[in-house]
This record gives sequence, C-alpha cells and structure tokens, in this order.
Amino acid sequence: MASSTKKDPNDKSYVRAMFDEISARYDFLNHSLSCFQDILWRRACCKELRKLKPGRRLLDLCGGTGDFAVTYEKFNGVQDKAVLGDFSYGMLKGAAGKKTSAVPVQLDAMKMPFAEDSFDVVLNGFGMRNVPDVGGALQESARVLSDGGYLQILEFFSPRNAFNKLFYKVLAPLFIPVMGAFFSKRDAYEYLVNSVLNFLPVADFVKLAEEKGFELVHVKPCFFGVAYRVLLRKRGAVAENCAAVAAE
Ligand SMILES: C[S@@+](CC[C@H](N)C(=O)[O-])C[C@H]1O[C@@H](n2cnc3c(N)ncnc32)[C@H](O)[C@@H]1O
Repeated sequence: MASSTKKDPNDKSYVRAMFDEISARYDFLNHSLSCFQDILWRRACCKELRKLKPGRRLLDLCGGTGDFAVTYEKFNGVQDKAVLGDFSYGMLKGAAGKKTSAVPVQLDAMKMPFAEDSFDVVLNGFGMRNVPDVGGALQESARVLSDGGYLQILEFFSPRNAFNKLFYKVLAPLFIPVMGAFFSKRDAYEYLVNSVLNFLPVADFVKLAEEKGFELVHVKPCFFGVAYRVLLRKRGAVAENCAAVAAE
C-alpha cells in the first residue's frame, strides 16, 4: 500500500511504508542532498570507534541500505557478528551486494529479537528521529549492548543555533521537497524536514540517553551542527553500583 495516503508520521506503518517507497533512490538522494557529507560523517564515526577498540559484535540499527555497516567494517575489519537491523524490507534489500558481513534482520528498534549483552557496538545513523518513542529505543539499545558497549548516533537534531534555524526552517523546506518530488516522493522529503524540526535538540537527547543507562563520551557537530555525532557508552553494573553507594 502506498504510504502517501497515510499522513501521521507518528504511525510506525506510515514511516515503514514511506521508507519502502523511497528505498530505490535513498542512497542517491542521501548523498546528493548532503553534498556527499553523509559519507564523511559516517567515516568519522567509525574512525572514532576504531580508536576505542570495542568488541567485535556489531548492530547497525535503523541501518537501512547498510552504508554505516559497510563503513564500520572498512575501518574496523570484518566483525565476528554483524547485524543490519531495520523494519523496512525495501531499505534492507538496498544493502544487497554491498561489502559488509552484516546479516539483514527485519526488526523494530523498539523491541528487538536479541538477548541482553548481544552486541559491543550499536550504530544508529539518522534513525532515532523516526522512532515514535526515542526513550524506548534508547533503552532497548542499552539492553542489547554489553556493559561498556558503545552507541554511536549520527543524527539531525532540532536546530538551536542561527545557522541551523535558517537552514532547516527556510532553506531546507524550499529545496529538499523539490528534489524529493523530482527524484523520489515529495511527501517523504517533506517528512524528512519536519522530522528534524520536531525532533529533540541534541542537549535534550543526551540527557534522555543518560536517563536510559548511557554516559556521554562526546558530542561533535558535523558541518556547523547540521548533524551531530553523539557517542555514548553503556554504564556498567559496577559503575551503577558505585554510583548507588556514593549516593547513599
Ligand atoms: C534515514 S534512514 C537511515 C538509514 C541508514 N542508517 C543511513 O545511515 O543512511 C532511517 C531508517 O530507519 C528505519 N527505521 C525507522 N523507524 C524504525 C523502527 N522503529 N525500527 C527499525 N527501523 C526503523 C527506516 O526504515 C530507515 O531505513
């Protein structure tokens, strides 16, 4: 069924159908709309993780057509276990033939079919703003990570500085839906702009992640804050116990 007839972006099936519809042109538009910056941003995330030497179990969550998993393995080697998780079958199909060992799994980021401590690294590129309950998705990411495991977020957050307000409120609504209409689906690309404006500012996102069991490693702006790389580490049981004792 075409997503374009359903207009509620909080409706999971609307979002999934929309990504199914745009999957064939997703990579092309992603790269062209960001002037190929998205490639550099994913690389920066993966190089940061290489320095930290995490374990070798990877989940690329909301992984879509798999570019984050491909980049991760390019800089960190083939993983012992790698999963490309996404709820859009169309997007997962777009990963076929790409250079990654990640096994595609159709799943909901809010309720994943994995036990606790299944992964050492969870990547999430441009996925968080699409889930209806960000806190729930963070909690679920923490559940499947090992203690001390990393969650690397690459995301467009609600604009706060003047440049980004101008970009997302004035410039992006002018050209992104037009490009979308020309090459793909206009309403999907209107959704893209609105989803950024309706999302959390990065500082609120970090606060929420801290409430859901993570500690902040760093926040780094990409291209003057058009996007951010947010690296989080799952607080371990030992650290939790120390914090609890200290609070007594
Ligand atoms: C903007 S795309 C990002 C794809 C890829 N990570 C990248 O870096 O280009 C967002 C992806 O999140 C997926 N997604 C959105 N909500 C989801 C959910 N609740 N569970 C799983 N995947 C979801 C969509 O299907 C889509 O493939």
